[in-house]
Amino acid sequence: PESAAEFVPDGADLAALRAAAAGCRGCELYRDATQTVFGDGAAAARVMLVGEQPGDKEDRAGEPFVGPAGRLLDRALADAGLDRDRCYLTNAVKHFRFTRAPGKPRLHKKPSVGQINACAPWLTAEYAAVRPAVVVALGATAVRAVLGTRYRVTADRGRLLPCPQAGDGAQAVISTHPSAILRAPDDARAEALAALVSDLRVVVGAID
Ligand code: URA
Ligand code: SF4
Repeated sequence: PESAAEFVPDGADLAALRAAAAGCRGCELYRDATQTVFGDGAAAARVMLVGEQPGDKEDRAGEPFVGPAGRLLDRALADAGLDRDRCYLTNAVKHFRFTRAPGKPRLHKKPSVGQINACAPWLTAEYAAVRPAVVVALGATAVRAVLGTRYRVTADRGRLLPCPQAGDGAQAVISTHPSAILRAPDDARAEALAALVSDLRVVVGAID
């Protein structure tokens, strides 16, 4: 199967990982995307937030969570009392997957299981470099990448789960993806945002 493994340098720090990831060809997604969008944030962060994949804005900027979903996430983090500057933000898949009809804007397309698995060695290397106390999996793709197939967003969100793959004693918290909140109908959006904030408060409680 396709894998990023051969592109990941052993024991590298975040700067070296980011530089190496720029040349990753571990799956076919590098071909149509603008650039690799590696994780960003403090190497000493106790909280690592994992999304699905970069969106259109992130693909152009080269940084995670800088578009509309990122703005919503910023607001939720602030409401929960988590400082974004003290978190490390990344994605399960580091290239933007999209479809495009001629003359139309690029439309986000969910990454395949093969692509999630191919990109996983980068996430493993980020765990080793950051050693987070809590990993926040935002949405189903991140849940699969962080925790495998045993957990579901709705059934398992908002509680501390063991996450030894992220390091000794590491824990995970599942929540919804901010993009899903942006897509929610008007009358459901405030409640969906409040639920994300509530899940993030569980994270705050675990690191205090
Ligand atoms: N959605 C994600 O999952 N990640 C981003 O970086 C932006 C939008
Ligand atoms: Fe490599 Fe991940 Fe990009 Fe695929 S999506 S080319 S595995 S960085």
